[in-house]
Amino acid sequence: MSLEFTLSHAAPAVVETPLLAVILPQDPAMDSWLQPLDTSLHGALARTLARRDFRGGRDETLLLVGGDTGIQRLLLVGRGAGPMTRTAIRRASAVAARQAVRLGTGALAVCAPDITAEAAEGVCTGAAAGAWSYPDLQTPPAEKDRRQPLSRVSAVLPDHETMRAAFAAGVAVAHGQALAKRLGMMPGNVCTPDTFADVGRDLAARHGMTCTVLGRDEMAALGMGSFLSVAQGTPEEPRLVRLDYRGGAPDAPPVVLVGKGLCFDTGGISLKPAADMEWMKYDMSGAGGVLGAMEALGRLRLPLNVTGLIGATTNMPSGTAVKPGDVVRASNGKTIEIINTDAEGRLVLADLLVYAAQMAPALVVDAATLTGAIVIGLGHHAVGVFGSDDAATSEVLAAGTRAGEPGWALPLWDEYKEQIKSDVADLRNTGGRSAGSITAAMFLREFAAGYPWVHLDIAGTAYSQADLGWIPKGPTGTPVGTFVEILRGRVGR
Ligand code: BES
Ligand code: MN
Ligand code: ZN
Repeated sequence: MSLEFTLSHAAPAVVETPLLAVILPQDPAMDSWLQPLDTSLHGALARTLARRDFRGGRDETLLLVGGDTGIQRLLLVGRGAGPMTRTAIRRASAVAARQAVRLGTGALAVCAPDITAEAAEGVCTGAAAGAWSYPDLQTPPAEKDRRQPLSRVSAVLPDHETMRAAFAAGVAVAHGQALAKRLGMMPGNVCTPDTFADVGRDLAARHGMTCTVLGRDEMAALGMGSFLSVAQGTPEEPRLVRLDYRGGAPDAPPVVLVGKGLCFDTGGISLKPAADMEWMKYDMSGAGGVLGAMEALGRLRLPLNVTGLIGATTNMPSGTAVKPGDVVRASNGKTIEIINTDAEGRLVLADLLVYAAQMAPALVVDAATLTGAIVIGLGHHAVGVFGSDDAATSEVLAAGTRAGEPGWALPLWDEYKEQIKSDVADLRNTGGRSAGSITAAMFLREFAAGYPWVHLDIAGTAYSQADLGWIPKGPTGTPVGTFVEILRGRVGR
């Protein structure tokens, strides 16, 4: 990410900036905090509020023109009614950054009179989200038409230790989300399983982690017939990427983060319809989330052990592809009848979840764009959360809420197991039309034995097909924030 963050403890009125964004609540009053700003703008702020030209509604903005020095432009940004939360600050900061990009100011300072340490992190994650773009594959506009890209963001926060910590966390998470979003936006011919291996090695080198990469032969030796059945239709080498971060005691059980990394999902022999299929480049968002979380973790250097695990391949129809009716054997010995080759994510995750058990983990959380059914059930506002352990599920739900990536729990009752029983094998890979997200999670549960496990279905939340106003359409960064909050929660930071 080309964005550079700085922390400023200066009084907002004396900040030297081309654009100062002031985040205000609904119906803001002219108070002593705003007074010095008003003075430096020769009364324009007080007049604006008195006329009620700006009322502080969510996403509302008003631009005031300042002088040639000091605050050159003042952007009022509304955060709407409701409490001062990290989510509200993140959204308002993103709106501010998008405005800065449109104006071409190059730099942006952000402040809020009532900011709290809990919310302050949202300045960095929000500004990064609003400024985010993926220009790599587009010809840049002619020099004369170019706007200055936003390259510097200054968070203007009170001088306090908790604010410094929040700022550092915000910068770390912003970098993690930027990595996840970049990988998500990359088309399937650019982001391949080898890309994940390269990113894994780069993370390991920069943050002192260990990276292990397995290919087809190594996975075959481990008996990963479930994962490999998905990869058998593509000439591209599938990759299992493992990243080990050791910040805790040598014998402390790790938290394992697992990600579905389908660089593209055509559906395979059970081919998807052509309309909207291009969005299936995002079918690696779970894996991108794991790498993004590892990037944030490497910057935060939390005192615990964490392993990231990614299963990367491409689901293709071909002469060698797996077909409906085929039976394959996973690394725990269970046999699977493949009813629909488009239910491939669970086949990849099955072997990863078995592999995770050898680490005797304290917790395993997987993230996957697993089912279209979760979009029908929860839409685009909630992550589907499934868990075998109530304490772990509550922990992950709370982390998601703190991160502004809220989840909603769905049941894993034994009654649903009937739907994934097979006549010919131990399991079938689909459970029919009803409760599609639950039967997918039930399938995963068969492989997540011996540790507390939570599954996140992010098919509705990892990317957006519409511009959301505060962030452009495309990848959202979910589930990086949730992963990082789980880890921070475990060490009380
Ligand atoms: N990657 C898809 C799920 C998906 C759908 C993600 C829409 C994002 C948006 C997954 O591999 C899939 O194809 N699932 C099937 C399962 C079905 C065949 C049981 C689905 O949801 O239709
Ligand atoms: Mn699929
Ligand atoms: Zn898929």
